[in-house]
Amino acid sequence: MNILVTGGAGFIGSHVVRLLVNKYPDYQIFNLDALTYAGNLENLKDIESKSNYTFLKANINSAKVINDLFENYKFDKVIHLAAESHVDRSISDPLVFVKTNVIGTMNLLDAALANWKNNFVGKLFYHISTDEVYGTLGETGLFTETTSYDPNSPYSASKASSDHFVRAYGETYGLPYIISNCSNNYGPNQFPEKLIPLFINNIVNNKSLPVYGDGNYTRDWLFVKDHAEAIDLLLHKGGIKETYNIGGFNEWKNIELVQSLCKIMDKKLNRIEGKSADLITYVKDRPGHDKRYAIDAGKINGELGWKPSVTFEEGLEKTIDWYLEHQTWLGNVTKGKYREYYNEQYK
Ligand code: NAD
Ligand code: DAU
Repeated sequence: MNILVTGGAGFIGSHVVRLLVNKYPDYQIFNLDALTYAGNLENLKDIESKSNYTFLKANINSAKVINDLFENYKFDKVIHLAAESHVDRSISDPLVFVKTNVIGTMNLLDAALANWKNNFVGKLFYHISTDEVYGTLGETGLFTETTSYDPNSPYSASKASSDHFVRAYGETYGLPYIISNCSNNYGPNQFPEKLIPLFINNIVNNKSLPVYGDGNYTRDWLFVKDHAEAIDLLLHKGGIKETYNIGGFNEWKNIELVQSLCKIMDKKLNRIEGKSADLITYVKDRPGHDKRYAIDAGKINGELGWKPSVTFEEGLEKTIDWYLEHQTWLGNVTKGKYREYYNEQYK
């Protein structure tokens, strides 16, 4: 079986690639990635010489390149993770999100359709999406698979659009697909623009911790390896033309999460308790900031038995330890362009 993973050099993609390469020596795993600022082959050093792994440097925005790769490598299944993924960047530069998340997805869909030539036996287009397509929740309730789409940021609008095209290709052309919509991931290898790695890095460097608005925004956090396990499960056992919500059953208000993080970091860095929390600074809110996300993962749990295996306490500890042990990785990704981004975003 030839499996194409797009975005495999990114955060979640690298965990998916590692899991598949190690678990399925009989599958050929192709990692297609453009290596944008968020892609990093350092993430996959431990498996890069395995015989069932191939890296393809390519951009999904080029229809011809993508089609040629489908012709050459005869992919049977696609797990599509490549995307622009950061909400704040989508606010300052929305068009690049349309190009990669919408047009790039279309190019993959067209290539799959053209190369599978209506013989869909053993074929699958598995599209990785987000809970942000559902918009925001109030104080109560959970997102289910039938919650209406109501995206509020350019990022979530582009992901919602790509979800709709995947579904439309299923309905119109019979393309076998699965979509999963997951909540906030955290763990090793996440680019330090997202809340948890950004704040770990800032604490280490005694820089302020910019909490947006009043900090009373809620997210549902899932350890990235549990997401990778869910993706593996759906790849093999998911229902065709089905969508699945994946979440951590683990809601935290941002400010409470940041306070816990600060406490653990004080211990790890042998600082007096409260030193890291002193870095907390309330800053201007994110425009269109969604108040609360929370996933009802009852479908994947009830039908396929998936549930998170890592508690938040364990996951946070593992994540902090990983960043503390990978200061060179952090140093490398926070040079140059990152500084420009940081100064512009938090000026
Ligand atoms: P990421 O930003 O860490 O990685 C994205 C990867 O895609 C990078 O390796 C990048 O180089 C690659 N890429 C970007 N544009 C490309 C292009 N035009 N052509 C080829 N490759 C390109 O993202 P992530 O956090 O790992 O998210 C992966 C997927 O999961 C995304 O589709 C995202 O919407 C979805 N998702 C993320 C989360 C989360 O909490 N991070 C939660 C739910 C869903
Ligand atoms: O819900 C899934 C989504 O989770 C994914 O689809 C996205 O790709 C991923 O980036 C993430 O989106 P969020 O916007 O929720 O994640 P982020 O880490 O950017 O922010 C988490 C919360 O923390 C959010 O309420 C905004 C807040 N925040 C974030 C940053 C970067 C701050 O208060 N300060 C910050 O500096």
